[in-house]
Amino acid sequence: MTLMARTSAKIAGIQGYVPEYVLTNAELEQMVETSDEWITSRTGIQERRILKEDGKATSDMAAEAVKGLLAKTNIKPEDIDLTICGTVTPDTVFPDTANTINSKIGASNAWGFDINAACSGFLYALSTGARFVESGKYKKVLVIGVDMMSSIVDYQDRATCILFGDGAGAVLLEPSDNGFGIVDEIMRGDGQGRDYLIMKAGGSLNPPSAETVARREHFVHQEGKPVFKAAVKGMTDAVRLIMERNDITNDDVSWLVPHQANKRIISSVSNALDFPLAKVMMNIERYGNTTAATIPLCLWEWESKLQPGDKIILTAFGGGFTWGAIYLEWSYDGALVVNS
Ligand code: COA
Repeated sequence: MTLMARTSAKIAGIQGYVPEYVLTNAELEQMVETSDEWITSRTGIQERRILKEDGKATSDMAAEAVKGLLAKTNIKPEDIDLTICGTVTPDTVFPDTANTINSKIGASNAWGFDINAACSGFLYALSTGARFVESGKYKKVLVIGVDMMSSIVDYQDRATCILFGDGAGAVLLEPSDNGFGIVDEIMRGDGQGRDYLIMKAGGSLNPPSAETVARREHFVHQEGKPVFKAAVKGMTDAVRLIMERNDITNDDVSWLVPHQANKRIISSVSNALDFPLAKVMMNIERYGNTTAATIPLCLWEWESKLQPGDKIILTAFGGGFTWGAIYLEWSYDGALVVNS
């Protein structure tokens, strides 16, 4: 495969949002047969955020993140050209959530669409957004990863309800003016693992019915072990390949930003790559798996440490299976960003 030409899309700003309510392991102990010890040792998760307010949904979390992003980058909503939203928990099956976000933020000159790639949603959306910027036609593209997993998690299923949380992260993509930006990507989606991580009903295959509700098929169904194994392999292979073909080593990479699914998955990936955990972004202990939001939530938290030219590799794995890695060079001094 030939290397992609040096691209011109850069991340010009980032902002995250998590709801206030904290769902602790102690509270989960009251809901299902589990323990803080089991959850912490098997997943690394101590708490997650849950959107509890009536009438609020995925688009509201995304809109909060975007409003903060526009404020800190000094961009007017009407200057946004396009909004791409990675999510598996859209407000409604249709219209899509990107359009709803546009209306909530006042992006009156934008269009938009959703991308459904589960935990790889942010990577897929970022890849897509970069292509629009590289085309030369789009100057300001919002890329959002957001999920309200609490709306599709079965709080009677101890194997899944301990894993997931709610949250949003948004980046602004612009043409690069300093040579730094998105360099390369490896994106995959083979459909081979679709039975292992799936919401079985509600689509055209199994439309909603009293029976599908009784069988609890409108919730996340997961077989944890095969997903765990495939996630470690998928992310490790993608990162290894993208480093090889860009001729960069562990020493060159400032940060590895893995999807936050399980602390043990993250440790296994960094071990397999012989990559020091000190350069791996990880906040799963406080947010759990927020699906499409994990990677932008990490970048947001680490923003003040990021420097122009920092080599960063994002990697994710999710339902489908979908997976991949994106290699970018950070484009601005995060320490200079003023957060309101
Ligand atoms: N509390 C206590 N026990 C639990 C439990 C919980 N919350 N959840 C499952 N268990 C039990 C199981 O019932 C099983 O009991 P059994 O041996 O009597 O049958 C035992 O713990 C082991 O379950 P198992 O599924 O083999 O555990 P595991 O080590 O594979 O860990 C996951 C389970 C879900 C944490 C792990 O498989 C995982 O993280 N998978 C990837 C999930 C993921 O991140 N997906 C998101 C997309 S990438």
